[in-house]
Amino acid sequence: MDLDQLARLRTPEGVAALDLAGELAGSDELAAASALRARGVPPDLAAAALTQIALRGRAAAKFGADAGRVFLTRAGLEQATREIVATRRAARLRAAGSTALADLGCGLGSDLRAVAATGIRAYGVEADPLTAACAALNAPDATVTCGDAQEFDLSQVDAVFCDPARRSGGRRVFRPEDYSPPWDWVVSLPQRVPHTVLKLAPGIDQALLPPGCELELVSVDGDVVEAAAWCGPLATTPRRATVFRDGVPHELTGTGEQTAPVAPPGRYVTDPDGAVVRAHLVAEFAATHGGWLADSHIAYIWSDTPIVSPFGRCFAVDELLPFSLKRLRATLRDRQVGRLEILKRGSALDVEQLRRDLRLSGPHPASLLLTRTAAAPLAILATPVPPPG
Ligand SMILES: C[S@@+](CC[C@H](N)C(=O)[O-])C[C@H]1O[C@@H](n2cnc3c(N)ncnc32)[C@H](O)[C@@H]1O
Repeated sequence: MDLDQLARLRTPEGVAALDLAGELAGSDELAAASALRARGVPPDLAAAALTQIALRGRAAAKFGADAGRVFLTRAGLEQATREIVATRRAARLRAAGSTALADLGCGLGSDLRAVAATGIRAYGVEADPLTAACAALNAPDATVTCGDAQEFDLSQVDAVFCDPARRSGGRRVFRPEDYSPPWDWVVSLPQRVPHTVLKLAPGIDQALLPPGCELELVSVDGDVVEAAAWCGPLATTPRRATVFRDGVPHELTGTGEQTAPVAPPGRYVTDPDGAVVRAHLVAEFAATHGGWLADSHIAYIWSDTPIVSPFGRCFAVDELLPFSLKRLRATLRDRQVGRLEILKRGSALDVEQLRRDLRLSGPHPASLLLTRTAAAPLAILATPVPPPG
């Protein structure tokens, strides 16, 4: 799509093309294109409408109930923040007293709309003209300009949000110095604006963060989706894990420096959520449940009672075996296990190869956790404890 096609999609002819494309959603691409053309829709408008409808079909997590109305680009959708994460962040900014915020590199406007919806005066700056035009449509309560975020006059705002592009030429980039806007400018923002929030890759090298910031790791239904640095007065704890389960957020905070006790395995083992692990809050999580580690470097938490918590998945240990393929295969055969969930921490084994080598058959399900203690590699056969609530 280009700017001209975006404009045409908003004319009555374009709206009709989008409606038609919507009716054909899910059907064969070529057949849908010829059906649109047979109804008099010019080929390039038909293509733009079909692409838009296909993107909208994948946009529910990022744009919620508005997924069927927003204007999208493929690259913009991939980079957009999920609606529940954006909404929660915006509410926290509002509660902290932010009144005017600049979203510096606002993409399609997922964060920007959430900020504007709280009543904070919202400005979006986006370098790419088509993306900026989409953001202006997607966030009608914000002021969007197309340009370089580094030129924005920060004296107009008391808060900034920056989610730098971690792609270049359609490829992911991993080094912060390759981000856009450039990282040295991004990390200087907290010195210039009181309320600064930076969205980061979950694997960011924590040594690169602005000093004194709070590092928040966010997961949605078990997937770690982002990290955010909350700077200045917005930082209220060194580390925070925000874990969304079925749309409900749960928060765990701490210093990230606590160490957990180490002792032999117990009757239950809990696999902490990735946000808890990456926020270095495993010891804090273990402490709230009287848990411990069996190896100080491995984030499986052991306990003698089940840990029922949104911050991890708990398993009742059925059998604990020193790892041996032959023995594991025999045990699974005896237990008639045909469906096996395999998790691992601290094990170099190739899970899919192992699954093939186990030659599973039988009516029963089971979970297998591969790990090691200081002594040896371990295989834990286990049954999931039902999640809370
Ligand atoms: C990761 S995306 C932002 C996604 C956005 N938070 C959302 O949820 O939709 C980063 C955006 O920054 C834009 N960008 C990169 N460098 C920029 C610059 N110097 N000035 C303005 N925008 C820039 C890119 O075009 C891209 O759309």
